[in-house]
Amino acid sequence: MPEVPIPDQSLADDVVALRLWRTTDIHQRLLGYADPEYQRFSLTSTEPVTEARVRDHFEREHRERMCGERLSLAIVDATDLDQVLGGCSVYDIDLDQQRAGVGYWLAPHARGRGAATRTVRLLARWAFDVLAIARLELTCAPDNIASQRVAERSGFIREGIMRSHMRSQDGRRDSMLFSLLPGELRESGRTE
Ligand SMILES: CC(C)(COP(=O)(O)OP(=O)(O)OC[C@H]1O[C@@H](n2cnc3c(N)ncnc32)[C@H](O)[C@@H]1OP(=O)(O)O)[C@@H](O)C(=O)NCCC(=O)NCCS
Repeated sequence: MPEVPIPDQSLADDVVALRLWRTTDIHQRLLGYADPEYQRFSLTSTEPVTEARVRDHFEREHRERMCGERLSLAIVDATDLDQVLGGCSVYDIDLDQQRAGVGYWLAPHARGRGAATRTVRLLARWAFDVLAIARLELTCAPDNIASQRVAERSGFIREGIMRSHMRSQDGRRDSMLFSLLPGELRESGRTE
């Protein structure tokens, strides 16, 4: 697979901008990982999150982008690109089947302001227009209500429950599956 192109500066709105992670973001990413909500819903392993592990993640994410599998980006404040609000990715990219997944998390201080909905809308538009994705998937824990609201505000349709879908810190768990087709993206309307 060809490498995933790096989005230009247009991947931004008035509130959030999406850019590649920088090594100078390590501390802010570590703080995000330390949050219990993040650990509950987004971490699959119980290994302690250390600076070395974050560096490994940055390297792995670079390799994943180079082989066309995944694009991982920092969500930053649109008025201060050094201020990390969270992270997001377009993952499991399958250009042959024109399918991909979208994921996101916010640091606690960045929640409740619509930053995740804005991020998903920007990423979905980019995936449809630049990667020619025809079906974008989003999965989350059945009890992750905040994430489900983000999906619905962006136009995603709930398809059902995938049983024993993934590892979590408490063992295997189900996931709720949502999907979005290009004509369904809601780019305006309430974000928070
Ligand atoms: C999911 C996440 C990105 C959403 O952040 P956000 O966009 O700022 O979400 P908000 O705080 O605006 O909450 C969205 C909605 O969920 C509701 N909500 C938030 N936390 C909730 C909770 N614990 N229980 C029930 N409802 C909750 C809010 O009231 C809001 O409802 P509304 O749309 O009816 O007003 C953020 O909570 C997060 O980073 N969580 C940890 C990591 C994670 O879960 N990532 C997603 C994995 S699929």
